[in-house]
Amino acid sequence: MLPVEQSPSPLVGEGRGGGSAETVTPATRIDGSIRVPGDKSIAHRALILGALADGDSVISGLPEGEDVRATMACLRSLGVAISPSPLWGGSGREYRISPAATAGGPGWGFATPHGALDCANSGTTMRLLAGLLAGSRVSATLEGDTSLRRRPMARVIDPLRRMGARIDSNEGRPPLFVSGTRLQGRHHLLSVASAQVKSAILLAGLAASGPTTIVEPVPTRDHTERLLTAMGADLRVSSLAPLAREGQGGGPTIELRPSHRPLRSIELAVPGDFSSAAFWMAAAAMRPGWSVTIEQVGLNPTRTAFLRLLEAMGAQVVVELGSAGIEPTGTVTVVGRQLRAIDVGAADVAAAIDEIPALLAVATQAEGVTRIDGAAELRVKESDRIAGMAEGLRRMGTVVEEGQDGISVSGPSTLGGVMVSSNGDHRIAMALAIAGLVASRPTTIDDADCVAVSYPAFFNDLRGISLPLVGRDGERV
Ligand code: S3P
Repeated sequence: MLPVEQSPSPLVGEGRGGGSAETVTPATRIDGSIRVPGDKSIAHRALILGALADGDSVISGLPEGEDVRATMACLRSLGVAISPSPLWGGSGREYRISPAATAGGPGWGFATPHGALDCANSGTTMRLLAGLLAGSRVSATLEGDTSLRRRPMARVIDPLRRMGARIDSNEGRPPLFVSGTRLQGRHHLLSVASAQVKSAILLAGLAASGPTTIVEPVPTRDHTERLLTAMGADLRVSSLAPLAREGQGGGPTIELRPSHRPLRSIELAVPGDFSSAAFWMAAAAMRPGWSVTIEQVGLNPTRTAFLRLLEAMGAQVVVELGSAGIEPTGTVTVVGRQLRAIDVGAADVAAAIDEIPALLAVATQAEGVTRIDGAAELRVKESDRIAGMAEGLRRMGTVVEEGQDGISVSGPSTLGGVMVSSNGDHRIAMALAIAGLVASRPTTIDDADCVAVSYPAFFNDLRGISLPLVGRDGERV
């Protein structure tokens, strides 16, 4: 872990902002089965790729969260029709995606939007749309909220410019001004492990002449590759990067060749979001005997490293794989056991990037010091998640050490019930809420309605799955 940087992060306290507080009552027990909202990452991609297909696609199980709503609104502004579709037998929110035009190639039918496209709090929306629009025939401005306006965009602008893209920005940050133009496929050796960057390049590659190849430093979520393959794109993934042996990239090489055929439309049931489910898995792991089963959750192996980390800490994990489709889905049960601290390195951080806040909450109950290293990316998420989790867990009574690219948590600690802040970041709000389940008194999370970004019903579900601790006077403590 690098030594801590003295200057405060620019993102702390600069999240979505302005929300109301939620109080979490300590639990005597966590028990039950639950389903979580549809996977956000898959939903963004299915909507965007559906907008490029040769006909209507039907997607069920779309999550209600604000991030996916932002992608839907942006696509509608580009002339894509997205309408509720009761016709197909899938579960959850089901939508029909009708591309703006079905002939001529990707993006050719997009309408020039009136005004800026509002990506709200969603980095995935902004980065993927930058790639999509770079090779289109329209120009558009991509805007975001206070949190998104502070997030780094050079990571997508630079590789897209190498392909010929015309993108201006506010010194590498939003808003982005994209003028669609002709693109040329290139070879990209990525320095940052980011599925958003990879996906932005692949979307641009669909419209480029010549092949586009990408080598990742470590493997990241592969939802874009799976959907592109299912929709008939000429995409090849070789499992070991040729440069891996030379230490220049340990992830697979992905090659996308331009195709004269448009993408085929799809019918897709979006599985439950593993990253939302992770909070319930973490909750069950907090105390021996606590247990949660999550049904119909996405089990894409590029997303499930958190299960391995929980097992390494001592929790019991049982996975039942369902039938295989574009994305593997199944049931996961986590049962709490005595916990021990673990060390988490850069490759595991990349594979469990959205689950690290939940893991830190679990670490407060594990024997020893849990160390997370190679986690600088956590500082440029919806908020600085290293600073936010350190501040929240310290307030609750845990010994936390913060490094520039890592964090360590000492356990087991007795957590006190206090007021903590989400910093407007949905994953910090949910991770601190889970820590609150094992506190001695109620924990109030300030600015908690930011959970609506990915999991609007989170606090309702929390109340449904936990038996509250009741004091001598019969009151919830
Ligand atoms: C995402 C990729 C990850 C993740 C984010 C969603 C995606 O971000 O943290 O919540 O859908 O591609 P990075 O690509 O920045 O690692």
